[in-house]
Amino acid sequence: RLKAISDAIRVMPNFPKPGIMFQDITTLVSNHKVFKDTVDIFVDRYRDKGISVVAGVEARGFIFAPAIALAIGAKFVPLRKPKKLPGKVISESYELEYGEDCLEMHVDAVEQGDRALVIDDLVATGGTLSAAIRLLERAGSEVVECACVIGIPEVKGRSRLDGKPLYILVEPSQ
Ligand code: PRP
Ligand code: MG
Repeated sequence: RLKAISDAIRVMPNFPKPGIMFQDITTLVSNHKVFKDTVDIFVDRYRDKGISVVAGVEARGFIFAPAIALAIGAKFVPLRKPKKLPGKVISESYELEYGEDCLEMHVDAVEQGDRALVIDDLVATGGTLSAAIRLLERAGSEVVECACVIGIPEVKGRSRLDGKPLYILVEPSQ
């Protein structure tokens, strides 16, 4: 199943900038069997872990997180780019290669005692996931694990995740 998942990811060289090998998951999710297998692997791993919250990172984390949340009986919480959420939010910024970006979450989206899983499509530096972890913990939930479809094994992101476990399905395709 993992080989099929890896094979279904289309690599677009030099997008969005020269030198970047963009990992395009649109070709993964347009294949029903491969998309279902991808979601099922996460569902099998997390269904009995007492997860009450699946947090998805805008934008590409939104493609996977709600399907997982529905299947394991958890609530879905969107972590959004700035100024998109209407209610009271908390914010966490994180570094990009050039500059910084920010994620926001509704403060009342989780409660004390919630056990959260963070889902995104890909981890590179880990900056995005570390901001997600900080948001969920500030709001009172416990982050059980972060999970991505694609990641580099020696990703320095792991050390930026504050000791939280990181689960990855496949390595970036070349
Ligand atoms: C991409 C990707 C991850 C993040 C990983 O999102 O979807 O969320 O970068 O990078 P990091 O580990 O170095 O933080 P991006 O914000 O580029 O775009 P998106 O809105 O399409 O998800
Ligand atoms: Mg993203």
